Amino acid sequence: MEEKEESGRLHFVGKKDELIKAKCSFRTLEGRDVLIIYHQGVFYALDCYCYHAGGTLENGDIEDINGKLCIICPKHKYKITLAEGEGLYRGRNPQEKPPVFRWYSKGVKQRVHTVTEENGEIFVKLVMIPNWVDSDYYQGEKGKVERCSV
Ligand code: FES
Repeated sequence: MEEKEESGRLHFVGKKDELIKAKCSFRTLEGRDVLIIYHQGVFYALDCYCYHAGGTLENGDIEDINGKLCIICPKHKYKITLAEGEGLYRGRNPQEKPPVFRWYSKGVKQRVHTVTEENGEIFVKLVMIPNWVDSDYYQGEKGKVERCSV
């Protein structure tokens, strides 16, 4: 997997206790809409809008799929790994006899960011490498999601 590279700024996003209680918190960092998710003892940060069609991930269920924790987009049920932002799909190889359904990865589709903790406070650094990840579209001028309409 490609190395994550962060932009320079460290953003305070909240007190640890409050973010744990909230489980899923929305923040705008450098104009980017991001979710900070707490699940099973770990914080994750990822772009708020689904790479597929801009559905907001705020109310997505979290499930273990093939050993990876995924958020399920409420809009069309796409599965996105919390740690890497990979799009997962289930398919089968018709060459196999009999064909068996398995989980496959489409690669990184949703931008995920780095979360750190210091003295009970949580910080996020935006990760902007690689240059383009599909979820970027819904953070840009053309695709920016109006939060009042989602
Ligand atoms: Fe279609 Fe998320 S917008 S699955």
